[in-house]
Amino acid sequence: MVNIRIGILCCKKTPENILIHKYLTKKYNTYFLNPTEIELDLNKNESNINLILSRVERDYLQCGLKVLRYIEDNTNVKIINSSKSIEICQNKYLTYKVLKEYMPTSLLVSKENFQNIEYLIEEMDLKFPIVVKPVYGGYGNGVLKLDDMKDLKNIILKKYIINKKENKDLKNKTNKINKNDDKNNNYFINNNYFNGTIIQEYIPYKHDLRVFVINNKIVCVMERIPRNDWRANCSLGAETKLFHLREDIVDLVLKSIKKTNADIAGVDVLIDKENNPYILEINITPQFRNIIKYSNIPLEILKFIGNISGNN
Ligand SMILES: Nc1ncnc2c1ncn2[C@@H]1O[C@H](COP(=O)(O)OP(=O)(O)O)[C@@H](O)[C@H]1O
Ligand SMILES: [Mg+2]
Repeated sequence: MVNIRIGILCCKKTPENILIHKYLTKKYNTYFLNPTEIELDLNKNESNINLILSRVERDYLQCGLKVLRYIEDNTNVKIINSSKSIEICQNKYLTYKVLKEYMPTSLLVSKENFQNIEYLIEEMDLKFPIVVKPVYGGYGNGVLKLDDMKDLKNIILKKYIINKKENKDLKNKTNKINKNDDKNNNYFINNNYFNGTIIQEYIPYKHDLRVFVINNKIVCVMERIPRNDWRANCSLGAETKLFHLREDIVDLVLKSIKKTNADIAGVDVLIDKENNPYILEINITPQFRNIIKYSNIPLEILKFIGNISGNN
């Protein structure tokens, strides 16, 4: 047993976290650290840990970031996926600010500017259909494709002024749209925590890819082929297969990873009909229950930790 004590920072014992734990335990003393329960006292438990693997979930983001920042500021503990990279990647608009030139054109809508939406869209030369998505989100939840300004305005109004009594009429009216997408709409409205919305250029994609990167190296590329949905999330039933990535797209992905400082991440990439690539998002606590069919991700994580600690 090598003398390294690893803490996996997460609230939920997902299949991924359990597998990572299982592999790391082969070589290291490995513990689960729950950010909601951890005592931020350097003389206590976490001071014995010399490496933290962050698997902080979106639902516990603020708490997880607080713990990571504390450890970064006060100790020499090595952290895999720093607080900075998590902050950037979990927030799709911050990701856009960092990776603007590689991503579909995007606009942030908020309480402050939603009334000028028509003007803003025109100014940015965004054409319908467009995509609307929450700043914080996953599994394709709340990701909508809208065909015209009427639908867009309804969605945006619904999100930003639905709770005001005087808008009861509007509520009745907007309830009629997108009946098929009710689950998405409700998700959108009910999540006040997700206080921003992104309007994004729609890319009619030929390929939707999940690129798994560990330590600035591409470990696996999986194409996700949507079934019964325009979105290609596996959670929405997409089928998968291995995909060979062109050298220039490899460079693009690795450049994006460098800019966001992510150590372990699942990058979503779209390739359009003219073979132009786009970075869509960087998943900083990636699931791997599908991609594990093609690549042993927990083993790759174990190897990575061996490399950085000189224990391979
Ligand atoms: N701008 C876009 N153009 C085309 N398809 C998109 C766009 N944005 C999202 N999608 C589709 O929706 C899926 C989910 O969007 P994504 O931004 O990755 O959010 P999530 O975090 O919910 O996975 C993508 O994998 C893609 O298939
Ligand atoms: Mg995604």
